[in-house]
Amino acid sequence: VEAAAVTVKSEFSNTRSIYNLTHRQITGTAAGQRMREYLWSPFGGYVGQLSWATRGQIEALAQAAGACPGTRLLDLCCGTGGIGLHIAKTFGCQLTGVDYAEDAIPVANRRARRLGLADRATFVQGNVLALPFPDGSFEAVLSIDSLVIVPRRWKVLQECARVLRPGGVLAFSDEVCVGPVPRDAEILRAINVYGRLYPETPQTYHRLLEDAGFKVLGCIDTTASFAAISERWAASYDRYRKEMIAEMGPALFNAGRAFFDTLGKQAREGAIGQIRVVARKDSGPAMAS
Ligand SMILES: C[S@@+](CC[C@H](N)C(=O)[O-])C[C@H]1O[C@@H](n2cnc3c(N)ncnc32)[C@H](O)[C@@H]1O
Repeated sequence: VEAAAVTVKSEFSNTRSIYNLTHRQITGTAAGQRMREYLWSPFGGYVGQLSWATRGQIEALAQAAGACPGTRLLDLCCGTGGIGLHIAKTFGCQLTGVDYAEDAIPVANRRARRLGLADRATFVQGNVLALPFPDGSFEAVLSIDSLVIVPRRWKVLQECARVLRPGGVLAFSDEVCVGPVPRDAEILRAINVYGRLYPETPQTYHRLLEDAGFKVLGCIDTTASFAAISERWAASYDRYRKEMIAEMGPALFNAGRAFFDTLGKQAREGAIGQIRVVARKDSGPAMAS
């Protein structure tokens, strides 16, 4: 694990380049596609997710965010667009996706055209710490398993509040610390191999959301499914080992396998978890009559 992690770190100097590489590899290779179809088969199927959210969980979050025809929905950290396009197709909403991985954006826009959704689904490159949209542009903001990668969570939540119109809904799933932070160096290296993680706890998230002007409508713990999906990721790496190593190289393969295996164990031990949160942007003070 240690050797693989060190090699990966020196080969890919920052989180964005690691995601660029991952997005290219997922969409560009037949083995990556086969592995993901196998991985997601017991969880409702593969809709293009690079995360721990099942099709049912994605649809439930989109529904909680109020996705329906006419709604303008923003998918934060959209990757290659699979999740957003699945939502746009299922709920008939207008979709904008944003991600800072420049290689993911043309892939996502091509997928939108191929699915006949280009008139209501657009993907743009941008950093969630400074969203490239005017105030009040969306009724709903959604994000799946990505905010943990972004430092300065308060700033991201402020940006979400800014681009939502009053009364708009933020719905997301994210990885959090649910127990003492692991201290073992090998565990920390394995977990942070795709770039440094900045996990909140459910309690600190609650406070940050309120500080950013949100009212939390619901927060549920989805750690059990996070653990099962992490284990399945690791098992899928094993099953497609030869093909994946041929395409990714041994360093990235070993690092990826160790990442999912370690997350699964940490989730079972009650250290790392996942939550699903729905929050509404305050409508502001009532108008004096
Ligand atoms: C774990 S992937 C999840 C992608 C997608 N939400 C899904 O569930 O399949 C995390 C994504 O966050 C993006 N990302 C990380 N930091 C970002 C930032 N500061 N601004 C925009 N995108 C970011 C990465 O490029 C990557 O596509």
